[in-house]
Amino acid sequence: MDTLQTTLFETIDKINERIVIVRHELHAHPELSGKEEHTSFLIKGILEAEGFNVRSFDDNYGLIADLVQQEGAPFVALRADIDALPIQERTEAPYASREAGIMHACGHDSHTAILLGAALALNTVREQLNGNLRFIFQPAEEITDGGSAQMIAHGALENVKAIFGLHAYPYLNTGQIGYKYGVMLASADTFEIEVFGKSAHGARPHEGVDAILVMSMAVNSLNHIVSRRIDPLHPAVISLGTVEGGTAANVICDHVKVCGTVRTVNHDVRHAIPEMMEVSLKGICESMHATYKFTYSFGSPEVCNHDPMVDIVRHAAETVIGPENTIDLLDPVMGGEDFGRYLERVPGAFFRLGTCNPDKGTCVSQHNARFDVDDDALEYGMKIMALAALEAMGDA
Ligand code: NI
Repeated sequence: MDTLQTTLFETIDKINERIVIVRHELHAHPELSGKEEHTSFLIKGILEAEGFNVRSFDDNYGLIADLVQQEGAPFVALRADIDALPIQERTEAPYASREAGIMHACGHDSHTAILLGAALALNTVREQLNGNLRFIFQPAEEITDGGSAQMIAHGALENVKAIFGLHAYPYLNTGQIGYKYGVMLASADTFEIEVFGKSAHGARPHEGVDAILVMSMAVNSLNHIVSRRIDPLHPAVISLGTVEGGTAANVICDHVKVCGTVRTVNHDVRHAIPEMMEVSLKGICESMHATYKFTYSFGSPEVCNHDPMVDIVRHAAETVIGPENTIDLLDPVMGGEDFGRYLERVPGAFFRLGTCNPDKGTCVSQHNARFDVDDDALEYGMKIMALAALEAMGDA
């Protein structure tokens, strides 16, 4: 087995420079969720040149590439997300985004490059594998109806016995990874509330129904749900992100709309919150003679890792970067990630790949216009992903 691992790592060392170039190319040409046409074309071309049979789809730009060594045997899947964000890049990198207002500010360019590298490297040892491998290049991770649902609908998890994914992480140094047993990331739902009142002259409020006042009461009460109704041992967040309404300073406003997000790390809490929100809203609107419309959209579920799969990631990481650099993250964070949908269905683990290098300025948080990934982290990502896949197949 050691020779298999050695060959794999030697191949990764050899292709590393090329994978860095691929990352820069992806970074320079970011595409928004659901519009990843060029990105998908580039990935497909590279994989096909290496002899992969790549499946593409009519309704999205995702790709599935299988390495079949034993007909009918289960697959171990590795997944990367490929989309970018509507942010104007402000780094000085030579490969900075050429697309106005679009940027790989979450590092999905690095995830894509790492998965490509892992696929190319594992392909070179394919004859020695004891099972099948699947590489999932998933679009549209950054939006509520994330692309993982589309990929699952296209059979991405058919005959899959384990799945792994990673995310660039500027809070750990390059050469470190973070793992987490159990829940790692929160569910991410969205909601929209509209309150309808009655307009009137601003000097005669008693003749109208003030939607701004009603909404302010509703917002206030929504902010009490987490502190007074939810068990403090189950973290939850209800945050409002937008508010719109009103037409003039002297007119009682008859319509206000707010949008927000709900994050939880517990299934029961997640499913209790929408009703709590609506009960508050309904009571307030009735008491103030207003009406409302409440729309709640369930997005991706919690990312809940499976312990034996976390063990595999840990072991792979300890082999590549040493136990001292394989860090237990201990607490979940309230960010969301649609990898959770895969983990609802098959065992797997998601982990954090450290990308912070103070000398290169790559310790800036995600979704920031100055975010960038340290290229030196790609090699570790490829090796740990590839080794975890081998271990899950029973080959290492
Ligand atoms: Ni991301």
